[in-house]
Amino acid sequence: MDYNVKVHDKSGTRSLKAGAGINLLDFLRMNSVDVDTPCSGKGTCGKCKVRVQGLMEEASEKEMKLLGKNALENGYRLACYNKITSDIEVYVDSDAGEAKIATGAKEREVEHCPIISKRFVKLKAPDIEDQASDIERVTACSGGFDMPEDIALIRTLPHVLRNSDFAVTCGYMDDKLIFVEPGDTTQKLYGIAVDIGTTTVAAYLLDLNTGKKRDVYSLLNPQRKYGADVLSRIDYTVSCPTGLDEMNELIISCVNEAASVFCSRGNLAREDIYAVVLVGNTTMMHFLMKIPANSIAAAPFIPGTTRMHKFRARDMGIEINPFGYAVMFPCVSAYIGADTVAAVLSSGMYENDGISLLIDIGTNGEIVLGGRDWLYSCSTAAGPAFEGANIRNGVGGVKGAIDKLDFAGGFSYTTIGDSKAIGICGSGIVDAIAGMLSVGVIDETGRIVDEDDEIYSQLHESIRERLVDIDGMKAFLIAKAEECASPIDIAITQKDVRELQNAKAAIAAGIKVLVKEAGIKMEDVDRVYLAGGFGSYINIASALKIGLLPAELEGRVESIGNAAGAGAIEGIVSSVMLAKADEIRSRIKYIELSAKPEFVDEYVECMMFE
Ligand code: FES
Repeated sequence: MDYNVKVHDKSGTRSLKAGAGINLLDFLRMNSVDVDTPCSGKGTCGKCKVRVQGLMEEASEKEMKLLGKNALENGYRLACYNKITSDIEVYVDSDAGEAKIATGAKEREVEHCPIISKRFVKLKAPDIEDQASDIERVTACSGGFDMPEDIALIRTLPHVLRNSDFAVTCGYMDDKLIFVEPGDTTQKLYGIAVDIGTTTVAAYLLDLNTGKKRDVYSLLNPQRKYGADVLSRIDYTVSCPTGLDEMNELIISCVNEAASVFCSRGNLAREDIYAVVLVGNTTMMHFLMKIPANSIAAAPFIPGTTRMHKFRARDMGIEINPFGYAVMFPCVSAYIGADTVAAVLSSGMYENDGISLLIDIGTNGEIVLGGRDWLYSCSTAAGPAFEGANIRNGVGGVKGAIDKLDFAGGFSYTTIGDSKAIGICGSGIVDAIAGMLSVGVIDETGRIVDEDDEIYSQLHESIRERLVDIDGMKAFLIAKAEECASPIDIAITQKDVRELQNAKAAIAAGIKVLVKEAGIKMEDVDRVYLAGGFGSYINIASALKIGLLPAELEGRVESIGNAAGAGAIEGIVSSVMLAKADEIRSRIKYIELSAKPEFVDEYVECMMFE
C-alpha cells in the first residue's frame, strides 16, 4: 500500500507516493530532498528535523530528548526516527545551498611556470626521403620529450597532423609530450584548482598562460547526506556495497559542476581546461581516486596512498580536455591530508624564519608546527561542535546562523545574511562561551551558575533573565522563539558547553603536545596561522578567552582564509611549487597523539576555563 506524501522544500512542493512503513529519511533521500544529517541517520545528532502534518507514531523518549519539547509541540520530528504510516505533508527547511563558504585566501606571488605548457610548432611534412613515423616526427621537435604510453593519444596523431598541415600545438607536463592539437591553440590554456572539504568544496579557475585567477565557485559537498564527518562516510562505504562508488561519483560531480560553471561563465569549452589540481583531507583524496578508505578509520590508521599522483583526468571521470591531467596533492598520514600540505605551502611557513604554528579547525584539528629546519604535525579529533553538530541549536555557517555575539554594552548578536536566526554556528558558539565566561554565567569548570551561586545576584538583570531551563537543563537564552525563523528558542545548554569544552581541549592539548615534542616553549612560537573556513570567521579574542588557543599566543594570531585552496592554486600555476609540496610532505613528521600518554593529561587540563 502506498501513502501520499507532499514534500515542501526550497525547490517547491512535490506530491509523491511512499511505500507503507518506509523510513522517512530514506524516503526523502531517495527523492533527493536535502535534509541535514550529520550523524547519517544513526539517531544521535538530532539535526534531521522536519515539520510533519498528518498522523505519526508517538515520539520515542530518545527522539523527544533530542528534539526538545518546544520543537515537538510545533510539529517537528526527526526524519530518521520515523516511518511513513499515513498520508502526510513534510516541510523541510534545510538551509543547504546558502552556506557561507570561505574561498578567499592570502595569496602569494609565485614563480609562473604552469604544470602544463604549450608550444606551437610547424613540422616538416614527410616525403619519400623522410619517412619518419608521425610519433617520431612530433617527438623529434619536442626537445627530447617523449609521449606517454597512451593509445588514445597515438590514435589521434595521423589525423591531427594531416588535418592541420603539420602545424600543431604540443602540450607538455613534466618530461612528457601529453597532447598534440591541430593549429595554434596556445592562447587557450586553463586549469582548475579544487579544495575538497568535508563540508564544502571551493574551486578556482586559473588562466595558466598568465597565472591569474579568473573565477571562483563554491558548493556544499553532497556527501554530507552520509554524515558530517569522514568516519560516518567511511562507515557508509563499508556497509553499503555501492558506497565507495557513490562517494566517488558525488565528489567527481562537484568537480565537473565547477568546470561546467566556469565554461559557461567564462565562455570556454571543456577542451580549453587542461589540468585540475585537487587537495583535500586524506579520506576525500581516497574517495576522489575511488580507493577504499576503510583502513584510515581504525588503528593503526593506514591510508592506501599518501603520494602525489598524476592521472589522465578522463580516467577519473573528470570532464575537461580528454588529454588533460588531474593532479592529486600528496598527504602525510591518515589524518594529515593534502589540504594541510597545501596550507603549509601557501602559508610559506616551511621556508620562513622563526617558528610558525598552523591550525585548521574542523571536525579534526590539523596542527603543523615548525619552520625552515623542521616541521611537526598532529591531528586531534575535536568532534563536530565547531561545525554546529552535537550542539542543541547548532548549524553550519549558513544563512541565518548566529555568527557573532557581543556581551559588551548590552547583549546583541548578528546572523549570516542578516536574516532571522535559524541556529548558531561555530564562530557564534565560541563567542557565546567567551561572553558567558566574561560576564560570569559559567565558571572555570564550565558549569552554568544558578540562584545558589554568589555571583548570581551580581549578574546584570538583562543577563540573569537569559538563564533559563530548557528540557530540564540549565541554559543561556540567545534568541527568543519570536526572533527566530522557526518557533524555537535558540540557547546554549549545559551540554553544549561540555561539547565545546571537549572540542577546545582537544585542539589546545594537541598544540601543547606538539610544542613539547618539538622541544620548544609556547613563547617561542612567532606566529600562528588560522586556516580554513572556521579560522576565517572565528573571533580570535574569543578563541583565546575560552582557551581554544593558548593565552601565550595572544598578539601573534592571524587568519589566512582558505590556505588549502591557495596552495592548490600555487601548485597549478607553478610546477616549482608543486614540487615543493612534495618536498613538504616528506619533511613533515607526523606525531600520533593516541600514542602519546601526555596528550590525555593535557586534554584534561585544557578542559578548564582559566
Ligand atoms: Fe537523524 Fe542524526 S538524528 S540524522
